Amino acid sequence: MYFSFVSLLAFLAFVEGLKNTQRNVQARSNYSPKRARGLPAEPTDVQTITTPQNITIRYKNPGAAGVCETTPGVNSYSGYIDLDANSHTFFWFFEARNNPHEAPITLWLNGGPGSDSMIGLFEELGPCNVTANLTSEVNPYSWSEVSNMLFLSQPLGVGFSYGGEESGSLNPYTGAVENASFAGPQGRYPVINATALDTTDLAAVAAWHVLQGFIGGLPQLGGIASREFNLWTESYGGHYGPAFFNYFYEQNQLIANGTTEGIQLNFNTLGVGNGIISEQVQAPHYPEFAMNNTYGIKAYNDTVYNYAKFATYMVNGCLDQISFCSTTNRTQLSDLAICTEAENMCRDNVESPYYSYGGRGTYDIRHPSDDPTPPSYFVDYLNQAYVQDALGVDLNYSADANDDVYYAFQQTGDFVFPNFIEDLEMLLNNSVRVALYYGDADYICNWFGGEAVSLEVNYIHKEEFATAGYAPYVVDGTEYGEVRQFGNFSFLRVYEAGHEVPFYQPEASLEMFRRVLLGLDLADGDLRFGANYSSSGLANATHTEPFVPLPSSTVVSSSASSATGNVTTAAVYLD
Ligand SMILES: *[C@@H]1O[C@H](CO)[C@@H](O)[C@H](O)[C@H]1NC(C)=O
Ligand SMILES: *[C@@H]1O[C@H](CO)[C@@H](O)[C@H](O)[C@H]1NC(C)=O
Ligand SMILES: *[C@@H]1O[C@H](CO)[C@@H](O)[C@H](O)[C@H]1NC(C)=O
Ligand SMILES: *[C@@H]1O[C@H](CO)[C@@H](O)[C@H](O)[C@H]1NC(C)=O
Ligand SMILES: *[C@@H]1O[C@H](CO)[C@@H](O)[C@H](O)[C@H]1NC(C)=O
Ligand SMILES: *[C@@H]1O[C@H](CO)[C@@H](O)[C@H](O)[C@H]1NC(C)=O
Ligand SMILES: *[C@@H]1O[C@H](CO)[C@@H](O)[C@H](O)[C@H]1NC(C)=O
Ligand SMILES: *[C@@H]1O[C@H](CO)[C@@H](O)[C@H](O)[C@H]1NC(C)=O
Ligand SMILES: *[C@@H]1O[C@H](CO)[C@@H](O)[C@H](O)[C@H]1NC(C)=O
Ligand SMILES: *[C@@H]1O[C@H](CO)[C@@H](O)[C@H](O)[C@H]1NC(C)=O
Ligand SMILES: *[C@@H]1O[C@H](CO)[C@@H](O)[C@H](O)[C@H]1NC(C)=O
Ligand SMILES: *[C@@H]1O[C@H](CO)[C@@H](O)[C@H](O)[C@H]1NC(C)=O
Repeated sequence: MYFSFVSLLAFLAFVEGLKNTQRNVQARSNYSPKRARGLPAEPTDVQTITTPQNITIRYKNPGAAGVCETTPGVNSYSGYIDLDANSHTFFWFFEARNNPHEAPITLWLNGGPGSDSMIGLFEELGPCNVTANLTSEVNPYSWSEVSNMLFLSQPLGVGFSYGGEESGSLNPYTGAVENASFAGPQGRYPVINATALDTTDLAAVAAWHVLQGFIGGLPQLGGIASREFNLWTESYGGHYGPAFFNYFYEQNQLIANGTTEGIQLNFNTLGVGNGIISEQVQAPHYPEFAMNNTYGIKAYNDTVYNYAKFATYMVNGCLDQISFCSTTNRTQLSDLAICTEAENMCRDNVESPYYSYGGRGTYDIRHPSDDPTPPSYFVDYLNQAYVQDALGVDLNYSADANDDVYYAFQQTGDFVFPNFIEDLEMLLNNSVRVALYYGDADYICNWFGGEAVSLEVNYIHKEEFATAGYAPYVVDGTEYGEVRQFGNFSFLRVYEAGHEVPFYQPEASLEMFRRVLLGLDLADGDLRFGANYSSSGLANATHTEPFVPLPSSTVVSSSASSATGNVTTAAVYLD
């Protein structure tokens, strides 16, 4: 995870980068292929399954090699789902630590766009995390305590997922993959055509095929025949979650009534953590959160605040431009140009003044802007030969996020598309259980905006939801947050948590996940709620936290971001 922002410095560095590249091309003339020691070897002893649907799954058991899940008797599998010659999606499946054969299946996806689900696996809710000395440690609060967990790297090009492969290097300024004619073969990386998949809706179709391919092979893989399915996601997952779930749900209905072939699933819950669901609803909350949050922090002065507010509401400003985008069909180049313009207007002028003048963390307002948490040692961990072999990959781990994917999405304006809140409405009207949860220290997808979305969702129980009160969210006698719930829909504000909630509040997050999956009331977890269950309490989430002075930055968390050096691109990931 890294944060970066355009500046004059960035521009100079970019120019400097071109010079460096030319130098490297010259210096390379005495390069000999024998020195290409850094290239990962072909993994050994890879197993192959052909599913009844004729999809190939290549896999290994990384736990057996001491990688990640080492709990005795608990199986894990990683490798590729090969849909065709140009589509190889990396998966990592962890059996539930308890009763895997009865446990449901949960797909976890990080956002970005272009961010890898390994972030969630290693930094948040997976069976292990990685320490500074690059050893993996078992996480007692892994969500695999209650569910089988599937992590996918998507779309292609993210993490170890690839269309094709080539040896080359990472551009030190942008992080983009370059072929060996630039700086020699320093590693092997994925090659994709990023513009071939550049919207959330296209990603949903691709992910459905991958999921179907995987589920088809799962009985042969671990003997798991469960058809109970959940999707949990984060950040840009505020787009992915509602759109993917809705698309999956519709395809499932077509399978159920025989219109199309496939494996039918039972769609249980959708979880979205610190999600960007609707920029139209959430954008106005950036300046409010920067100035008037529950930590008593004023991240910038009135001049900057007034600027951001003016940019939000002015004629032809952020909100107007999002409306223009919404009235297009979002298909023609001219439509997409309008949406991209809206995205840039909002992100540069409403969201970004905080990055220029706040000095505080993008993902945690309590921290400095060069936030050392959560540490991302896992990026270096995944670049070791024994780990690559154990996972069944012959690629280097480029970074936790793919710039090409990010920019391809930016060029369609997918960020400000209006349809994700509509997807949520559809799901809630079909009685799918939806849990929104927001760490209350996150700026980029702050809980003010999340709460506003929860109240805006125009579904059959909108009024009842809005009048349900905020109840304390209590785990083992400790209050970790405040929750509003009516029947299947809940909004939880988690105290003292940044963007990646389970990193900051592991115990409370696991218990939230368990209660939602089991259909228990979120506040106390002591009853199976009915369709008319309503939480009770105050109309507003009023809890406040003590002021946190701006600390000086501490350590750099890994060489993870060194691929992108001192970070000079304009990408601000919602991962
Ligand atoms: C690529 O992975 C290999 C291990 O297979 C490692 O030795 C090499 O340093 C990695 N290259 C980069 C650029 O990280
Ligand atoms: C399965 O797919 C392979 C190509 O991946 C193809 O050669 C083969 O004919 C297919 N088999 C069936 C039964 O469709
Ligand atoms: C790993 O997880 C453990 C247990 O949750 C936690 O105490 C530790 O701080 C984590 N370490 C890192 C590097 O994230
Ligand atoms: C690595 O770090 C962990 C936790 O900090 C520690 O328990 C372990 O002994 C260390 N391993 C080595 C080889 O230094
Ligand atoms: C390497 O990339 C450059 C620029 O993208 C391209 O012109 C060149 O043909 C590529 N070389 C190879 C060997 O693919
Ligand atoms: C990439 O995909 C786009 C959209 O499908 C297509 O128009 C373009 O030709 C492709 N580019 C390459 C280099 O294959
Ligand atoms: C199957 O279900 C879909 C989605 O609900 C519906 O649009 C379609 O008409 C149904 N087809 C049949 C043959 O029932
Ligand atoms: C801060 O928020 C509170 C509660 O939402 C509101 O009453 C107050 O007017 C706000 N203050 C400013 C300066 O916007
Ligand atoms: C507010 O902050 C901006 C950015 O640091 C600065 O340029 C401006 O002078 C400040 N305005 C006031 C009134 O202090
Ligand atoms: C949407 O597309 C239809 C059919 O191409 C067209 O008639 C209509 O004018 C378009 N609407 C907008 C707002 O562009
Ligand atoms: C309290 O919540 C209601 C909706 O439940 C909202 O309309 C109102 O603006 C909130 N008040 C404050 C001060 O945030
Ligand atoms: C990053 O900054 C440090 C210190 O400011 C500097 O030594 C280093 O060369 C920079 N790295 C890059 C890739 O610009």
